[in-house]
Amino acid sequence: MSGRTSRPRPKSREHVPVLLEEVREALALRRGDIVADVTLGLAGHAVPLLKAVGKRGRLVGLDLDPENLTQAQLELAATGLRFDLQHANFAGLPRALATLGIDGVDALVADLGVSSTQIDQAARGFSYLRPARLDMRMDPTRGRTAGALLDEITEANLATALRELGDEPDAAAIARIIAMARLSRPVDTTSRLVSLVCQAKGIPVPSRGWGRLHPAALTFQAVRMLVNREMENLAALLAFLPSCLRPGGRVAVISFHSGEDRLVKTSFKEGRSQGLYSKIAEDPVLPGDAEQEANPRSWSARMRWAVRSGVR
Ligand SMILES: C[S@@+](CC[C@H](N)C(=O)[O-])C[C@H]1O[C@@H](n2cnc3c(N)ncnc32)[C@H](O)[C@@H]1O
Repeated sequence: MSGRTSRPRPKSREHVPVLLEEVREALALRRGDIVADVTLGLAGHAVPLLKAVGKRGRLVGLDLDPENLTQAQLELAATGLRFDLQHANFAGLPRALATLGIDGVDALVADLGVSSTQIDQAARGFSYLRPARLDMRMDPTRGRTAGALLDEITEANLATALRELGDEPDAAAIARIIAMARLSRPVDTTSRLVSLVCQAKGIPVPSRGWGRLHPAALTFQAVRMLVNREMENLAALLAFLPSCLRPGGRVAVISFHSGEDRLVKTSFKEGRSQGLYSKIAEDPVLPGDAEQEANPRSWSARMRWAVRSGVR
């Protein structure tokens, strides 16, 4: 027996929340709780969490992406339950909660990274498979695009980012070729970045239907994480998280990147040794075979949970 079930594969556009059952279990929600989803996306986690806290409960949802907020609003409104959404960075969670008059939440979930809608919309410039301007901002209303970032960053800092955020083995060669190429014209389209990465690796640009990891995948991941300051935002969230949780409150963080998982693990461990958390996940919770088979986005997911000290 392989342990795999015959759960049907989702259609490519269908949105499937990652590790939903595991998040539900980790948060142990009760009727009347206040729950925060600080990476609302399409409300794939938020809708079932809101239903779990019921009529007396409340959900607070944050997202950087105004389009995702609009979509999530529709999904949540259909429940008829109480929720408040904010176009905000989770690095500013204390302010977002204060605006709503909330001094702490009973549970919080963060499902890090990009959403399928962001990847699927060519114009957002996240995808190495879709020709577009190189934007990659989760919040298109502010900040520097990936094209502008690649114009300004030093070659040395770019090489470090490609290595640390992308685990890209050819980091130095890619940074070099980008630094040379931008002298003649900006690296401001997805296709130009793909072609420079392939040039640095000495391989042709792969044709459609390429079955293995795309040669530009790690570079795109690193540049996206730089543009959106993903490590910095996560570090800020983790630093003030205990102060945003009520006594006995619970948190679940899903990451897709080893550096992010390390930050979460270290922060939870330190929090436990300082007495801020009473319990933490000893090991990351991973998707089972059935989920991995049904939802390829879950392959690299790791969830860690922690419980704030005190009694709920
Ligand atoms: C993986 S998706 C979440 C999917 C969601 N759990 C669902 O099932 O529908 C991550 C979302 O978090 C948002 N996001 C990423 N970093 C953020 C941050 N620092 N603050 C607020 N939202 C953020 C992205 O815009 C994206 O919509």
